[in-house]
Amino acid sequence: MPRMAWIPGQRPLDFPEAAVQDVIRLFQQETGEVYAEASVRHLPIPVWDANLLLVDLEEALPYTVQGVLWATPFKDDIVRVAAFVLFSEHQGKALGSEAWDRFVDEAWAKGFRHVQLEVKAENVDAQRFYMRRGLTVQRELEGYYKSGLGYMMRGPLSPPQD
Ligand SMILES: CC(C)(COP(=O)(O)OP(=O)(O)OC[C@H]1O[C@@H](n2cnc3c(N)ncnc32)[C@H](O)[C@@H]1OP(=O)(O)O)[C@@H](O)C(=O)NCCC(=O)NCCS
Repeated sequence: MPRMAWIPGQRPLDFPEAAVQDVIRLFQQETGEVYAEASVRHLPIPVWDANLLLVDLEEALPYTVQGVLWATPFKDDIVRVAAFVLFSEHQGKALGSEAWDRFVDEAWAKGFRHVQLEVKAENVDAQRFYMRRGLTVQRELEGYYKSGLGYMMRGPLSPPQD
C-alpha cells in the first residue's frame, strides 16, 4: 500500500538528477508545460515549509517525486506559488489541500499576507480550487503560456485555524 506524504524539499539546484527528471515529467504530463533541466534547477525556491514534495514513504530511497508545491517570496508581503502539481492518480484525494494548508501556515508565519500565482485560462478545476481558497482573477496574461491565455490570481492568506 502506498503511503503518500508531503516532505520538505531541497533547493531545486541541489536536487539529484533523477528528481529533476521526475519534476520535468510531472509538469509535462499534468500541465503540458515543457521545462528544460536548467529552468527547473534555477527556480528560486528556498528551503521552507512551502517547498513540499509528494512522495510514497513505502518506496525505497531515493523517493520518486510525485507532486510539488513550490512557493517563493515575491515582493512586499506577497508569496508566489511557482508550481503546484500532482500526478493524476493522486489528485482529488485531498493531498493538494493538505499541501496548500501547510504552505499557508508557513507563509503566514514568515510574515506573508497575500498569495499570487498564474494559471491557464482553460484550467477551470485549478481556478476553482484557488477561488475556494480566497483567490480571484486579477488580470489576463497574454504570452505567458505558449498554449494560450493565462490568468494571474491573487488573494489574502488566512491565519492558521487552530
Ligand atoms: C490543482 C491540484 C494541485 C489540486 O490538488 P488535489 O490534491 O487534486 O486537490 P484536493 O483533492 O485537495 O482538492 C480538490 C477538490 O477535491 C475534493 N476532494 C477532497 N478530498 C477528496 C477525495 N478523497 N475524493 C475526491 N475529491 C476530494 C475537495 O473537496 C477539493 O475541493 P475544494 O476545493 O472544495 O476543497 C491538482 O489537482 C493538480 O495537480 N492538478 C493538475 C495540475 C494543475 O492544474 N496545477 C495547477 C496549476 S496552476
